[in-house]
Amino acid sequence: MKSSGEGNANGKIILMGEHSVVYGKPAIAFPFQPTHVTAEITDHIYDVLRSGYFVGPLAKAPKSLENIKTLIHQLRHDFSTPPVQITISSTIPAERGMGSSAAVAVAITRAFFDWQNLPLSHELLLTYVNYAEKISHGNPSGIDAAATAGDEPILFQKGAAFETFPINISGFLIVADTGVKGKTRQTVKAVAQRFEQDNKTTGHLINELGDLTLKAKKAILNNQAAYLGELMNAAQKNLAALQVSDQTLDNLIMVANQNGALGAKLTGGGKGGCMIALASDYSTAKKITTALTNQGAKATWIQELGVYQYA
Ligand code: MEV
Repeated sequence: MKSSGEGNANGKIILMGEHSVVYGKPAIAFPFQPTHVTAEITDHIYDVLRSGYFVGPLAKAPKSLENIKTLIHQLRHDFSTPPVQITISSTIPAERGMGSSAAVAVAITRAFFDWQNLPLSHELLLTYVNYAEKISHGNPSGIDAAATAGDEPILFQKGAAFETFPINISGFLIVADTGVKGKTRQTVKAVAQRFEQDNKTTGHLINELGDLTLKAKKAILNNQAAYLGELMNAAQKNLAALQVSDQTLDNLIMVANQNGALGAKLTGGGKGGCMIALASDYSTAKKITTALTNQGAKATWIQELGVYQYA
């Protein structure tokens, strides 16, 4: 055992396929490097958590941190370790569809294994993270765990080995935070209820989202930004029909499209959280972020995509 351990993880953005991924359809997620979390572990006389949301004995952590609490108990139990002090620093906004809960679990698990000086396979990492994600989201597909644990875009399908693929599309991805907490647990549950009540319409919307995701992958590989934008708009229509969008998201999506976006949609669980837009060039991306900020977006980010340089 080392005197301390450290672990890191990125935030993530789902480009296409949120919600339909819960029903076995494919989804595309990107690691989102501008946002990041670090966890540090040392031993302590009792379990202590230090984070932006809570500082104090782990036993007294609020219900919203139950995922972290349970993960730490499980790790400590499995490896019979002394109590720990865990310090978490994060720039990933919580509950905004950016995979904050999964990223924190990835960083803690990595820090724990580093502290114990033990190798950590990707498979074991995902087992612990998905265990924590079940507590956060009830019925997670596993995409947040897979995306925050890696550093490449992935095509994820529940129950299948996920595929990484290179980005080969020029353009700029804009991410904007509505400032409203997303409600992944509730929206996943609401879609499940809709599916039970009307499986024909709901199933159709979900199947279409899966098809749009596969088309989006082709658009990314073939450098077709305008087409990818159209696919994003089509996906947003279906997500709105599944009733996981809301007025704030709809408004920011409309503003992005009015300011030159090739397409825009919500990302993650919806009903708050973040939206994304695609722009062909940096000056349009800047124009869009300014317009989104003027319309109340609490934070915006721009990530450049890129065309692969074949040697
Ligand atoms: C949440 O980031 C994505 C959802 O599809 C839920 C999940 O996949 O677990 C809404």
